[in-house]
Amino acid sequence: MTVSTKPVALVTGSGQGIGRGIALKLAVEGYTVVINDVVADPSVTDKGPYEVKAAIEAAGGTAAICKADISSAADRQMMGDFIDKEFGRLDLLVNNAGVAPRQRADILEATEESFERLMNINLKGPYFLTQLLANKMIGYQKAGIVEVPRIVFITSMSAYVSSTSRGEYCVSKAALAMGATLFADRLGEFNIPVIQIAPGIIATPMTSVVTEKYDKLIAGGILPTKRWGQPEDIAGVVIAVAHGYLDYSTGNVIEVGGGFHIRRL
Ligand SMILES: NC(=O)c1ccc[n+]([C@@H]2O[C@H](COP(=O)([O-])OP(=O)(O)OC[C@H]3O[C@@H](n4cnc5c(N)ncnc54)[C@H](O)[C@@H]3O)[C@@H](O)[C@H]2O)c1
Repeated sequence: MTVSTKPVALVTGSGQGIGRGIALKLAVEGYTVVINDVVADPSVTDKGPYEVKAAIEAAGGTAAICKADISSAADRQMMGDFIDKEFGRLDLLVNNAGVAPRQRADILEATEESFERLMNINLKGPYFLTQLLANKMIGYQKAGIVEVPRIVFITSMSAYVSSTSRGEYCVSKAALAMGATLFADRLGEFNIPVIQIAPGIIATPMTSVVTEKYDKLIAGGILPTKRWGQPEDIAGVVIAVAHGYLDYSTGNVIEVGGGFHIRRL
């Protein structure tokens, strides 16, 4: 096993959107970024993981692609083995990959199939990936390779904001928020900080299908900061975590939503 001299970060679902923004910024900060995504086609270079890798390398950074479905135990194991074999260390895990329901449906009608899909990807995936990789991080610490490994969970304002047309999404994110709390608690003894980032309305392919709706809401004043969030807004907080600035804040939630969480009268 060779051990990378550079710190290594795994960002799940970083072929586009928020994960892409996080991957690019981490690479600029000197991390070798493992770009994970369930979609990764080498013949597609204008978007997706190969575009992200090329953008990182064009800026002088280092990246590798690991195609894997985080909801699959075998794929999670393969990702862990890949990191061990290729880099021999993991300094930062960013649990970013997540999906919205394929179709928004009222909770009086939404299907069990959609519920199970979201629970598998949004909850079970990051929960057990963290279990697997936290154990590896403890091993890297014991071997003296990484002093303070760190973990980020990208949850959502939907962990507490009700959207009755995508209840399964809200429930998956509320449960994941508790997952982040549990790992922060358990990993405290190992000095592995765990921070939760809860984005608000962020301009990505995920939200591109509801652009008009959110344009109107933002223009109507739903957010104190009257603009869409950008992937870079989330990435900035991840960089603060990566630098260790939030280590003593383990178990906390950082809302990145333009003040959406503020109750107003
Ligand atoms: N965009 C928003 O407004 C917003 C708000 C709050 C939270 N979030 C959360 O932020 C995260 C990123 O969202 P985004 O807007 O960038 O989404 P996106 O759909 O634009 O990108 C998500 C990426 O994850 C990948 N992915 C999906 N399932 C996967 C799986 N099983 N294994 C590995 N990769 C998988 C997709 O292929 C895609 O590249 C998600 O967890 C999402 O729930 C987004």
